[in-house]
Amino acid sequence: MGTSILVTGGTGTLGRAVVDKLTAGHEVRVLSRGHADDRGAEWVRGDLRTGAGVATAVAGVEVVVHCATTNGRGDVAATRNLLAAAHRAGRPHVVYVSIAGSDRIPLAYYRAKQHCERLVEHSELPWTILRTTQFHDLVATFFAMQRWSPAVAVPAGVSFQPIDVRDVADRLAALAAEPAAGRVADLGGPQIRTTRELARTYLQVTGRRRVVLPLPLPGRTFRGYREGRHLVPGNAAGRTTFDEFLAGATRRPG
Ligand SMILES: NC(=O)c1ccc[n+]([C@@H]2O[C@H](COP(=O)([O-])OP(=O)(O)OC[C@H]3O[C@@H](n4cnc5c(N)ncnc54)[C@H](OP(=O)(O)O)[C@@H]3O)[C@@H](O)[C@H]2O)c1
Repeated sequence: MGTSILVTGGTGTLGRAVVDKLTAGHEVRVLSRGHADDRGAEWVRGDLRTGAGVATAVAGVEVVVHCATTNGRGDVAATRNLLAAAHRAGRPHVVYVSIAGSDRIPLAYYRAKQHCERLVEHSELPWTILRTTQFHDLVATFFAMQRWSPAVAVPAGVSFQPIDVRDVADRLAALAAEPAAGRVADLGGPQIRTTRELARTYLQVTGRRRVVLPLPLPGRTFRGYREGRHLVPGNAAGRTTFDEFLAGATRRPG
């Protein structure tokens, strides 16, 4: 049945959507540090940072969709361990997901993503890299974290182009089923909207009354965001808008 595919980070925000998409037509294995669930995939317990269980996870797979992230510098060691194990196994096609503009905004996490991209490119494995814009979940979490505050603070003069992880999963699933393509076109959400607009939408859909407070933030990182270096206006291929995502999330149980 289909291709044999390992999804790293298959328990994460994006990875769960990727696993749901891929299990419809492929043999899917998930590497996780935690417990198995019953979503129709094989589970291997392992830790990419230490390398434990990684050889078992990559054994026999044709494709690795690498969605795992430590949300920090640990991504470099994790990616290095994964690629080394893949090399020793059957040299699968590695599909890596990265961040649009991560080479153009001086954020430590983005530097780690860039380092990982270079490792993938120089791995001597067949590879594909897809960069995407920020996920709707990330933007919503940023607002939700401020729920006890009397005002919602947002970086002034900054816009985002958030995308639904199901749209990213569709693209990753298509890439996983094709031959290695190198760096492919970036993938962006359907709309570019200011942080002020996104906050107002969030407040409206979640039924909260708060003042939105744009804060001018100093530094090169925020200048990069104000200049829109993380946006891909020519690649607005995602379908689900932030409003639709929020409406769906508020309808879902839990
Ligand atoms: N969030 C965004 O807006 C955004 C935008 C563009 C691209 N991306 C990229 O998309 C990818 C997925 O992001 P996400 O937000 O979905 O991540 P996430 O929800 O934080 O999930 C992280 C995943 O990584 C796994 N993981 C963490 N440390 C690990 C380790 N040491 N060994 C094995 N697995 C480990 C976790 O699995 P366990 O805890 O089960 O081990 C979890 O499944 C990342 O590469 C990120 O850079 C994100």
